[in-house]
Amino acid sequence: MLLEDRNAVIYGGAGAIGASVARAFAREGANTFLAGRTPATLERVAEEIRAEGGVAEVAEVDALDETAVGNHADSVAADAGRIDIALNAVGISHVQGTPLTELSLHDYEHPVRAYTRTNFVTAKAVARHMVEQRSGVILTLSTPGARLARPGILGNAAASAAIEGFSRALAGELGPSGIRVICLRPDAIPEAVAGSHTRELFSGIAESAGTTIEGWLAERARTGTLLGRFPTLAEVADYAAFAASDGAGAMTGAIANLSSGSLVD
Ligand SMILES: NC(=O)c1ccc[n+]([C@@H]2O[C@H](COP(=O)([O-])OP(=O)(O)OC[C@H]3O[C@@H](n4cnc5c(N)ncnc54)[C@H](OP(=O)(O)O)[C@@H]3O)[C@@H](O)[C@H]2O)c1
Repeated sequence: MLLEDRNAVIYGGAGAIGASVARAFAREGANTFLAGRTPATLERVAEEIRAEGGVAEVAEVDALDETAVGNHADSVAADAGRIDIALNAVGISHVQGTPLTELSLHDYEHPVRAYTRTNFVTAKAVARHMVEQRSGVILTLSTPGARLARPGILGNAAASAAIEGFSRALAGELGPSGIRVICLRPDAIPEAVAGSHTRELFSGIAESAGTTIEGWLAERARTGTLLGRFPTLAEVADYAAFAASDGAGAMTGAIANLSSGSLVD
């Protein structure tokens, strides 16, 4: 197993990506600590993990609240002994599809502030323990918006570029302490849309294009990716497990392009 006995904290652990990655981590032998704002949805994921023989604990934590995140990380480290892996899979609802002249400052700024804040707060909380251990892996998530020039994505683009810049600089900051940082950049994951904040994001865009979200995504995948399809949750989760493992031990400061070729490096 890739992650035997590693302790992994997943912020946004009940979300589409967070839950899939938590299941993959647990299958690879990690003890998972799921954090989010809604105990019932976290517990549902934890039950699935336990039913498959894995280890999962849940905690109600607002990943924008520095004190709450710090206290949670301290209690995981105290109870479990160490924190080996952290993933920030928090999803922030925001506006896409609105042109600049109609976009409010609040709608532009909201994803930038929230994503940069939660990634800072969670990385700092776990890094305090990882620095002491002199090892650890921090995984972040961005979107292809970080590199796209397209109308209607200003807030998303600035937030995603900020997460990628933060992840790169964090790798420089923590590398000397033996801590790796990798940012995962999947494109839209069609099967995630139903239960994720992306439904709200994409519904207006699909509607103004006169189609359904499913139809809009299928067309974007067909015409806009090298593989003619978007990534699956399993592909993103399996990649995250590898990135967190010793097999990826030489990899840090990297943006993992999981876009199915909607962007090429
Ligand atoms: N889905 C995609 O297709 C896709 C593609 C590329 C990148 N991404 C990125 O991947 C990340 C996760 O996306 P997702 O689609 O998996 O999200 P999601 O399904 O909407 O889940 C997000 C999770 O974050 C939790 N959350 C939200 N605010 C929180 C807070 N303040 N504190 C703690 N937890 C909070 C939510 O639970 P509670 O509300 O109960 O707290 C939810 O479980 C995002 O950064 C997104 O941009 C997603």
